Amino acid sequence: TAPAASEKQKKRYPGESKGFVEEMRFVAMKLHTKEQAKEGEKETKSPEERPVAKWEPTVDGLERSEKLAIDLEWFKEQGYEIPEPTAPGKTYSQYLKDLAEKDPQAFICHFYNIYFAHSAGGRMIGRKVAERILDGRELEFYKWDGELSQLLQNVREKLNKVAEEWTREEKNHCLEETDKSFKYSGEILRLILS
Ligand code: HEM
Repeated sequence: TAPAASEKQKKRYPGESKGFVEEMRFVAMKLHTKEQAKEGEKETKSPEERPVAKWEPTVDGLERSEKLAIDLEWFKEQGYEIPEPTAPGKTYSQYLKDLAEKDPQAFICHFYNIYFAHSAGGRMIGRKVAERILDGRELEFYKWDGELSQLLQNVREKLNKVAEEWTREEKNHCLEETDKSFKYSGEILRLILS
């Protein structure tokens, strides 16, 4: 027999029962290629979507990717010139500034993806790139104060709490921003290979 209208099935969202961070993670993992991460489903189309082991990184690209003062100072001491930020970084940072003012749900999506991308795949990338072109030097960017897993867990809990106040529409709006997060970050990642 058909269910009564009052028992109409609610749409389920993957990860929903574990909290909103799990929903964001589900969408993000699908946007990886299989070559990037086991859970990936995306087709490999651009160079930064290939296995990191096959990258041909250059110091030239690395220097453009992050503006962390200590690392940059170190690069300078090594004799590398620090270039001005270029289009991909400037475009993304302006976009984030705009979102921070007018679209908190979308902004949180970028915050989540950037934070967790750098602490997951990013650490592995940092290690491999350093092995290839920095003589294994561990950059300050990859050092955290405290136990990383605990820091990440705190962030997850805070994000889950924030999202508890959101309507389903606001949650969906946040999840839908994941594509853009990958697009903008992908363009910056590509600089490592240029
Ligand atoms: C997680 C690789 C790019 C966002 C991961 C994981 C790997 C990985 C291996 C761990 C999966 C696991 O928990 O077992 C890579 C590689 C990339 C890349 C090789 C590019 C070369 C990106 C980009 C974004 C992103 C561009 C978003 C801007 C995330 C997120 C997670 C993740 C949100 C979940 C982390 C967690 O749950 O702790 N990635 N990724 N990744 N990645 Fe990426």
